[in-house]
Amino acid sequence: MRVTVIGTGYVGTVTGACLAFLGHRVTCVDTDRTKIEKLRIGEMPIYEPGLKELIEVAQEKGGIDFDTDVKRAVPESDVIFIAVGTPPLPSGESNLAYLESAARSIGAAMDASKFRVVVNKSTVPVGCGNLVETLVREGLTEANPEMAGGVRFGVASNPEFLREGSAIHDSLYPDRIVVGAEDEETVRTMRALYEPLVEQTFVDPSFAPRPRGVAERTGAKAPMVTTTLTSAEMIKYSANAFLALKIGFSNEIANICERVGAEVTEVMMGIGLDSRIGTAFLNAGLGWGGSCFGKDVSSLLHTAGEYGVNARILEASLAVNRMQRNVVIQKLQEKLYILKGRTIALLGLAFKPNTDDLRDAPSLQIAEKLLQMGARLRAYDPIAMDACREQHPNLRICYCNDALSAAEHADALVLVTEWPEFASLDLGSLASRMNNPVLIDGRNLFSPEKARAAGFEYAGIGRSNNRGNGQLHPVRGVKTTVAS
Ligand SMILES: NC(=O)c1ccc[n+]([C@@H]2O[C@H](COP(=O)([O-])OP(=O)(O)OC[C@H]3O[C@@H](n4cnc5c(N)ncnc54)[C@H](O)[C@@H]3O)[C@@H](O)[C@H]2O)c1
Repeated sequence: MRVTVIGTGYVGTVTGACLAFLGHRVTCVDTDRTKIEKLRIGEMPIYEPGLKELIEVAQEKGGIDFDTDVKRAVPESDVIFIAVGTPPLPSGESNLAYLESAARSIGAAMDASKFRVVVNKSTVPVGCGNLVETLVREGLTEANPEMAGGVRFGVASNPEFLREGSAIHDSLYPDRIVVGAEDEETVRTMRALYEPLVEQTFVDPSFAPRPRGVAERTGAKAPMVTTTLTSAEMIKYSANAFLALKIGFSNEIANICERVGAEVTEVMMGIGLDSRIGTAFLNAGLGWGGSCFGKDVSSLLHTAGEYGVNARILEASLAVNRMQRNVVIQKLQEKLYILKGRTIALLGLAFKPNTDDLRDAPSLQIAEKLLQMGARLRAYDPIAMDACREQHPNLRICYCNDALSAAEHADALVLVTEWPEFASLDLGSLASRMNNPVLIDGRNLFSPEKARAAGFEYAGIGRSNNRGNGQLHPVRGVKTTVAS
């Protein structure tokens, strides 16, 4: 099929590349000329493992090109995806300006030569399916009033569930594909588009091998859930709200564990093995971040408010997360008393590993607060330092070439992002370079015993031995394990 994807950010570029990899002919469009020029010469405007390789293979399969002009791509397309940003306004509601402009430009470029589906892949509040239909029609009527009546199109909501850092894997092997639509022709078109994904008929690429679970599934290997437009829109918000809630819950339990002397990692393992709960997203830490959770929970709250629903759980979820980011500051104060004039080293800046995305990253809030309190900051992140320098020039951070240089003469080290390479750091070398070997492990990445053996004064999040002498269970000597 012929496909246009509008917006070449994290979602649009990955979606376009995957669809071309599956054999569709794709054009990705963006108003940002710099991004398009980079993509044309094979440079990625974002950091996403496997994306460059996928685009190279996609060129040989269905073919993918990059353009700044919607008008060139839309007339030939069967399916047009909108994957533009929907950032939050100060009120919490989603800023729909990019969506609106994209929908109008699609309308203005349409003709009567065939039936097309316009797909909302951006995360948009309930009712945006209708809004897009209206805007496409308005764009069409303004540009081509005489043709408008003869142009046929359907609107679908196809929310995206990929996670930055594993976006290629998530797009090729989704747990489910959600399509909301109000007419059969639109559903049929979307089914045809996604058939290779649903049936998993493609040969998996070496850089994103098919997981065993998917290969072994019978029937539709990536189930497609078809719903109304409104249900699909609600599914996306509810999924993100629930995931944010799971993390927030773990953090709240962590704070209680710390007081009562329990170990949150043990508690979460103990509850996660209950199949009704599941082990994912139960890692306590210094709070979630990223471009989606905060914005989506706020947007859902706003929608609830518009309909007079008092969504207390959603409100609490945001509040708990805001508080959790301050836990690091409290722990630093407990260990160092005075933060003014102290040097704090941050390990990790990206909101999570394997991405350069800093949107709503906890590191930013922590850095701002520490700077306000008079601390000096050193930092190291394997990927996100350039983005941080560029996007946050006011943050006075001394960027370092590696974790060891970040630790040099620091009074405390804070693990902010659990990049896998940090797990194998030589803790002894880190501690020996510091003025004061304090380690605040904001992601419970390190073993408290090992950190203490390396000379650190260690504090994790919700760990029973934050105040202890390093023995996990000094009396019983029990180590938590799961027998398989
Ligand atoms: N990033 C994620 O992990 C993720 C996951 C699931 C869903 N989403 C949702 O997907 C949407 C896109 O997110 P993203 O992270 O890819 O955003 P992004 O900011 O990385 O990219 C959006 C792109 O759209 C372009 N754009 C804006 N208006 C345009 C227009 N009128 N025509 C052409 N291009 C235009 C921008 O220049 C930008 O390159 C959002 O609604 C987001 O909530 C994001």
